[in-house]
Amino acid sequence: MKICVYPGSFDPVTNGHLDIIHRASRLCDKLIVAVLVNSSKTPVFTLDERVELIKRVVKDLPNVEIESFSGLLIDFMRRKKATVIIKGLRAVSDFEYELQMALLNKTLYPAVETLFMMTSISYSYLSSSSVREIAKHGGNIDELVPECIKEDIVKKFKAQPV
Ligand code: COA
Repeated sequence: MKICVYPGSFDPVTNGHLDIIHRASRLCDKLIVAVLVNSSKTPVFTLDERVELIKRVVKDLPNVEIESFSGLLIDFMRRKKATVIIKGLRAVSDFEYELQMALLNKTLYPAVETLFMMTSISYSYLSSSSVREIAKHGGNIDELVPECIKEDIVKKFKAQPV
């Protein structure tokens, strides 16, 4: 069974992530979307909230599971018997950091391969931080996140001081 892991902070999940999830789910038997800790970021949505939002947007994809983990990605991979890491590349600017991550993960766990997918052109400008910024200032996020989670994102920022 080919198990792939799509890791990220997903703070929150966007249409760009969903595009990768849809396309990656067709390449493997099981795709695990792993909500992990990026130690250089302080998330706005709690781990439980991020997991819950992703669960809602992938509910129609039978071979996609959502998990969270607080250790190293490669330890999660070993535990899940997964050998492929899926990453989305939006622009050349993503490349250097992603190359470093892929090489480090390969060094720590040689059986693992990182598979890069080019983000669809229509989402190449998108990031979770831009969604947060627009939502925080009351802007329109209709085109940026799935309809079924839009209200939760808007509500989260209404509840927070600007
Ligand atoms: N569509 C939209 N946005 C996308 C995207 C896509 N297809 N692909 C990436 N992005 C954006 C994300 O929204 C996020 O935006 P933001 O910075 O505005 O929040 C950014 O690109 C990627 O950030 P993130 O999700 O945090 O991913 P990352 O590539 O920085 O990796 C982890 C995060 C959690 C996977 C990584 O830190 C990790 O593996 N942590 C576990 C500990 C570990 O093993 N560390 C590595 C040691 S070598």
